[in-house]
Amino acid sequence: MKRLFIFILLAVGFGKISAKAELPVYKNPKATVEQRVNDLLGRMTLKEKVMQLNQYTLGRSIVANNKGKVKVVPAEIGSLIYSSTDVTMRNAMQHRAMDSTRLGIPILFAHDVIHGFRTIFPIPLAQACSFNPDMVRLSCGVAAQEAKQSGVDWTFSPMIDVAHDPRWGRVAEGYGEDPYLSGIMGKAAVQGYQDNGKYNIAACLKHYVGYGASEAGRDYVYTEISRQTLWDTYLPSFIRSLEARPATVMSSFNNISGTPASANKYTMHDVLKDKLGFDGFIVSDWAAVKQLKAQGMVKDYKTATELSFNAGLDMDMMSNAYDKYLEKLVAEGKVDAKAIDDAVARVLRVKFELGLFDHPYTEKVADAKRFLLKESLNLAEQAAEETMVLLKNDNNILPLKNTKRIALIGPLADDGADLLGCWHAWGDGKDVNTIIKSVQDEFKGKAAIDYAKGCDFEGNDESGFSEAVDKAKNADVVVLCLGEKSTWSGENASRASIELPQIQLSLLEAVKKSGKPVVLVLSNGRPLQLNRMEPLADAIIEMWQPGVAGGKPLAGILSGRVNPSGKLAMTFPLTGGQIPIYYNRRSPGRPTQGKYQDMSSEPLYPFGYGLSYSDFQYGEMKLSKTTCKKDETITAEVTVTNNGKVKGKETALWYIQCPYSVLTRPVKELRHFEKHEIAPGESYTYKFEINPMRDLSTFDADGNKYLQSGEYDIMIAGQIVPIEVE
Ligand code: GLC
Repeated sequence: MKRLFIFILLAVGFGKISAKAELPVYKNPKATVEQRVNDLLGRMTLKEKVMQLNQYTLGRSIVANNKGKVKVVPAEIGSLIYSSTDVTMRNAMQHRAMDSTRLGIPILFAHDVIHGFRTIFPIPLAQACSFNPDMVRLSCGVAAQEAKQSGVDWTFSPMIDVAHDPRWGRVAEGYGEDPYLSGIMGKAAVQGYQDNGKYNIAACLKHYVGYGASEAGRDYVYTEISRQTLWDTYLPSFIRSLEARPATVMSSFNNISGTPASANKYTMHDVLKDKLGFDGFIVSDWAAVKQLKAQGMVKDYKTATELSFNAGLDMDMMSNAYDKYLEKLVAEGKVDAKAIDDAVARVLRVKFELGLFDHPYTEKVADAKRFLLKESLNLAEQAAEETMVLLKNDNNILPLKNTKRIALIGPLADDGADLLGCWHAWGDGKDVNTIIKSVQDEFKGKAAIDYAKGCDFEGNDESGFSEAVDKAKNADVVVLCLGEKSTWSGENASRASIELPQIQLSLLEAVKKSGKPVVLVLSNGRPLQLNRMEPLADAIIEMWQPGVAGGKPLAGILSGRVNPSGKLAMTFPLTGGQIPIYYNRRSPGRPTQGKYQDMSSEPLYPFGYGLSYSDFQYGEMKLSKTTCKKDETITAEVTVTNNGKVKGKETALWYIQCPYSVLTRPVKELRHFEKHEIAPGESYTYKFEINPMRDLSTFDADGNKYLQSGEYDIMIAGQIVPIEVE
């Protein structure tokens, strides 16, 4: 008996040792990522490798190739765009990958989590107006937590396309017209997604590159981008965001001066991977490989596959081309097997770094424990507060004082869904704090609120005008809520006119005739043409599309509980005829000529514009010295005093200019900003530690830093002080 017991002990022990010995390196969590990648790569067949370079969809999707049927999707697939909040389907699919394939490689599940997953934050263009990167980082952290707990490992965000044309619907998804601001916000977003503990998800810089230069603001079109402009305007936001080590980058739809981005070897291989050292992987945009045919670059999808892959595009989203042709192309010697290994290693590295091999499944958590958490909603409200921009406030009509009756009018006053904006993932209009509910709460016991819709977003039905005008006549003030539907911006949502539909202007004209002051509240996904509305409004609040929690901050701005602090991240043209119009333009040969004959050449509201209820007075800028060598620094500082009656947050925007440069530079370039709250009567000194190579340089057409010796102007709040760089 004793012998048998000892034998069993030995057998079990041996079994464990041998099992341990058989555990392949790639399955050993104690091995390094590189050891695991290399071990796994060495075990994979070419077919298994190729499957890792493909992405299909799974779950609710209007264009899904499988309508959510788990069994339809090959278990060896590298990634799936996952459209569900229930983790059941994801875990079932993941079990197929882990348990029924030869090597058990987990699938990477992705989704467009652009400004929140269920707790929806303000659209990114609005977030940029906060000039608060910490708020962007925190909001992306909440988005990551909700997405991760819903089965998503990877988001196709942040979108950091610099854009100058508000006709392009996708300006809503980006951080505006400035390369520096877009980069700072993009970097913060990547940190929010990737560096927040157990809810890390992979980020994706998009759309690489120059998509924002889409001709005439249309989508999926040609972009004329010189090498110089590529480097000094469209690449900087990616270069700065790469500092946060994003896991992935997405190639864009646009044709870059003759070579579509998704088959552009210069931008993807030479610049992003070689020169900038990007070690993650590049995924195409949706069916962008196939679209090379429509763009006239190739005759068939096999050639599209060859050109895209050899240009450096690692993963094919929804073209179903890589899985069909890559093996053949390797066999024909048109694609190098080593390049396949490099691409697969990049994908596997992301999966190992996300921990997917060791924790492939998502724990089921009740909605109440993951969505719309109190602290998440609080953050969404703070974010909305900081993104709203006060554009006009004649005679300080705002905040509303001694108001006993407010006529709350307009198609957006009692609308929740459209305040979510485009790309609102699993956001629900029912979650939204509407304007009317928030205004009623804010003014409870202080003022009566009379509501009238007045009109729809568009059309020509004026039948609601009379009720609106009657309520205006009986009120002390009109709060008129106009704007865009959430579907009027985002992808494939270009608008030739950036003016709101005539019916909305007519409603404004009608209520204006009541003789009562009008506060115009705008909710929109792009800069608007306001030249016909602005004169009729006593005050204008740009609330953007603020997400679930925008109503209360808006009501707070009306009552004075919230002091608006947003500043525009994108120029508001006087009319669409001025487009493109942006602040960091180059100086013309005749600055006093060349203007329009029929209207002003100045925008209605420039980049950086925004009013406050405080009265911020800037003192004289001071410099630690006015001459420095290229490897020295100069400190610029300015003291700002709040001469107003209420505390407020002021963002100091530091610009530079190189007035005489062989490589001509814009008339001003934002290079530093700081936001700070200042109490009434108090002062705060803002500082800008100028490092010439970092803060005064630009890129030349070869992507090398360019810093010419000579004069540079440091600018803030209208002050211009020259320095000399030797
Ligand atoms: C879309 C968009 C891109 C998005 C992707 C996945 O076409 O261009 O921004 O991330 O497809 O939905």
